[in-house]
Amino acid sequence: MKIAIVGFGVVGQALVRLLRERSGELYRRHGFAPRIVAAIDTRGAALSAQGLDIAALLRTKASDGTVATIPDCGVSRVDNEQVIAECGAHVLVEATPSSLRDPQPAIRHLKAAFRAGLHVVSVNKVPLAVAFPGLRELADYNRVMFRFSGTVGAGLPVLALAQQCALGDEILSVRAVLNGTTNYILWRMHEAGLDFAAALAEAVRLGYAETDPSADVDGVDTAMKTVIFANVVLDRAATLADVQVAGIRDLPRERIATAAAAGRRVKLLAELGEKLRVGPQEIEAHGPLDVPANLNAVSLSLRHGGEVTLRGPGAGGVETATGVLRDLLDIWHALGSAP
Ligand code: HSE
Repeated sequence: MKIAIVGFGVVGQALVRLLRERSGELYRRHGFAPRIVAAIDTRGAALSAQGLDIAALLRTKASDGTVATIPDCGVSRVDNEQVIAECGAHVLVEATPSSLRDPQPAIRHLKAAFRAGLHVVSVNKVPLAVAFPGLRELADYNRVMFRFSGTVGAGLPVLALAQQCALGDEILSVRAVLNGTTNYILWRMHEAGLDFAAALAEAVRLGYAETDPSADVDGVDTAMKTVIFANVVLDRAATLADVQVAGIRDLPRERIATAAAAGRRVKLLAELGEKLRVGPQEIEAHGPLDVPANLNAVSLSLRHGGEVTLRGPGAGGVETATGVLRDLLDIWHALGSAP
């Protein structure tokens, strides 16, 4: 399978590392031997129909800040959509940073891929949060697969679990911690008594936060995940405008301490019921949603099965890359392992 990656940051690099480290096992277990035929970053691209040398990609990105300087393969200042359409890839991985201020580049990448007949794996939430119905329609029209499990829960199979549960049962409501950065901040404010700014700086240093961390702390990242979840799992044609959003930027430390004294914890919670809501809420300490550090937790309330909770790492480069790999294998198997 030939893969093009647009956006060669933390997740893109973690993905190629994962593909290299697991190449033997992926081939043995799945017959999967992917080739990266294009890697595009903000300064250009590296292209090779035979497949790029992953070590050279990582080395050059680290030394030069771009892959465009790789001898023989590198090209400066490319037209991303043209590269996507003409590089001969079967699948596009969209891993550019999520920016609600400028959703267009990512949307254009996805549309270029769909129109050129490429399947798509997106880890970028923004195009889905602002244009989900249209993108899904375009993918269907062009008969290509569109996967995005890494957008919610990073490597955790949040969407897949919920979709499976919704088959035999009925999801009545969902409560979830969907943002690793804010969970980390609130956890550090509680555990270590840090103030908001110090805890945020740690989360940024650890690579959990978005390029612009205000999307995390103001609840917008959680709201985007809520929109994706609602569309995919609950069949709601929701957009960001349908989510009532509050963040944690102005949360006083005293509120965390007061909650702790009453055996409760403050979390940035997504609630998907009749309404879609994101905001700081108190939950029971040590209950299913009380996860530490940058973990995520998703509790599904099922009509027959009661409460089902999935907890685990929901942010981070390699964690998200495992979600991309899962989507790639899903596409590979759905194609009958053909290309
Ligand atoms: N910034 C996001 C988070 C990354 O902290 O959860 C994963 O979507």
